[in-house]
Parts: sequence; C-alpha cells; structure tokens
Amino acid sequence: MTLSPTTHPQEFAGRIALVTGGASGIGLAVARRLAHAGAAVAVADHNADRATAAVAELTEDGARALAVRMDVTDDASVQAGVEATVAAFGGLHLAVNNAGVAGDPAPIVETPAEEWRRVVSTNLDGVFYSLRHELPAILASGGGAVVNMASILGTNGSAGSAAYVAAKHGVVGLTKTAALEHASQGVRINAVGPGYIDTPLLAGVGEEAYEALVALHPAGRLGRAEEVAELVAFLLSERASFVHGSYHLVDGAYAAR
Ligand code: NAI
Repeated sequence: MTLSPTTHPQEFAGRIALVTGGASGIGLAVARRLAHAGAAVAVADHNADRATAAVAELTEDGARALAVRMDVTDDASVQAGVEATVAAFGGLHLAVNNAGVAGDPAPIVETPAEEWRRVVSTNLDGVFYSLRHELPAILASGGGAVVNMASILGTNGSAGSAAYVAAKHGVVGLTKTAALEHASQGVRINAVGPGYIDTPLLAGVGEEAYEALVALHPAGRLGRAEEVAELVAFLLSERASFVHGSYHLVDGAYAAR
C-alpha cells in the first residue's frame, strides 16, 4: 500500500469518515489518507468489487474500513449506505462527496437529454442526496466536516462539457448553501476544485488529448490524486476550523490565467 506522508499522524483518530466514489482515483487516495491518519473509513461506491478491494488494502494496513455498495444517483441507496456506516462504526463525523463521472464530449445542441441526466444525476444530485443523509448523522455525532468534490469546471466553462460544467458549478453553490445552513452547528462544508488529475477517469484519453490537457496547466503536468487528498485532509481537519462554505482549487494554476 502506498500511503502519502503526513506531518499530522493520527489527527483523525476516533473520527468516522465516509468517502463516496472511494474505490478509485481521488476517492481512493482520500480514503487512504484519512485511514493513515487514524480515521475509520467507509468506502462507498457503486463498484462493490473495487470497494471491497480498497477495504482489503486499508484493513491489511491496520485501518478500520468498511465497503459500502452505494449508487449516489439513488436517494434510498445513499440513505442505506449512510445508515450502514453509522451501524458499523457508531456515528459519522467526516464525509467526502466525491463520486463522479466524466460526460461524453459534445456540444450542447448534440447532447442527448439522457446523457445530460446521467452526468447531472451522478455529479450533482448525488452530492445533494449525500448531504441530505450525511448531515443528520454528523449532527447526531456531535459535528464534523464535509468536502464536496467539484472541479476547476466548477468555476470555468469548457466547450463540449455542458452537463459536467453545470453539475460542478451546482456543487459549488450547493456547498455554500449547505455551509450557511450548518455553520453555527459545528459542521463545516467546503468544496475542492481539482485541475485535471491523472486517474482512471481520464483512461480513454489518447496521447494527443492528454498532452492538450497538460498544456492547460501552467505547472506543466496533470495533478496526482494524492495532491487532492492532501487538500481534502486539511479541510476536514481542525487545522481548517474557520474555513466554511468556500471553494479551494488544486489545479497547477489552470484557473489563474
Ligand atoms: P474515477 O473514475 O477514478 O473514480 C470515480 C469513482 O466514482 C469510481 O470508483 C466510480 O465507481 C465511482 N462512481 C461513479 N458513479 C457512481 C455512482 N453513481 N455511485 C457511486 N459511485 C460512483 O474518477 P476520479 O478522477 O477519481 O474522480 C473523482 C471525482 O473528482 C469526480 O467527482 C470527478 O468529477 C472529480 N474530478 C476529477 C478530475 C480528474 O481530472 N480526474 C478533475 C476534477 C474533478
């Protein structure tokens, strides 16, 4: 198991975390990062086999971890997953709403309604359903923190990605609103906006398109999942105790131009 180094060992000891889309890419890096710092982690994913494999890796390394089959496009499935986490670990303090899909690239006038629905239901409805069921559990556990996974496309547009861009802008607005609703109750809710990150989400991208993505980042490369996980861990930690309702980029200067 490859763990990212931390200068804050065990800062999540006694904390219970749930990571949606935790079986791959950024979500898996977040699950590893939180487990390494002492959290009990529920890896929630609609790919049950990959969630089970992730949990096997985490437990082998001494962490408390639970695989939860969850489809974030289904409100009842999200509710059941949150309930399973609370039943297994006795509460919930930290949530990372990260499950997402990339859309099939096409201009708006050529985007079928079903494709719009598929992308928005995973990337935006899924965050709403997650917040709806996680927040009561977090409040009942005495408070905590949530990070919603947006994107640089939560603030920038991108021709050919209307559904994804709209969903990620929606995640930023949802984050601010949820933060306002819970800021006085001991729950901090923030969003993260990664630039392009080298994960299985980009698996179908050919070499030429990959280089075009690299060129969008003044840092001269794509990001790594562990670099996003480090920001997520900071936002979930007490080190970020006055950080509420904001949107944080980790993007190699993509959005600075
Ligand atoms: P990934 O494809 O490696 O992982 C996504 C995970 O979400 C997978 O394990 C998948 O099974 C799960 N998932 C998909 N639909 C689901 C559903 N309906 N219910 C439950 N789980 C579901 O992708 P990656 O790159 O790790 O992406 C994670 C998040 O980061 C996504 O929200 C994505 O939009 C966002 N992001 C990714 C960037 C990138 O360049 N890779 C850039 C900016 C944001």
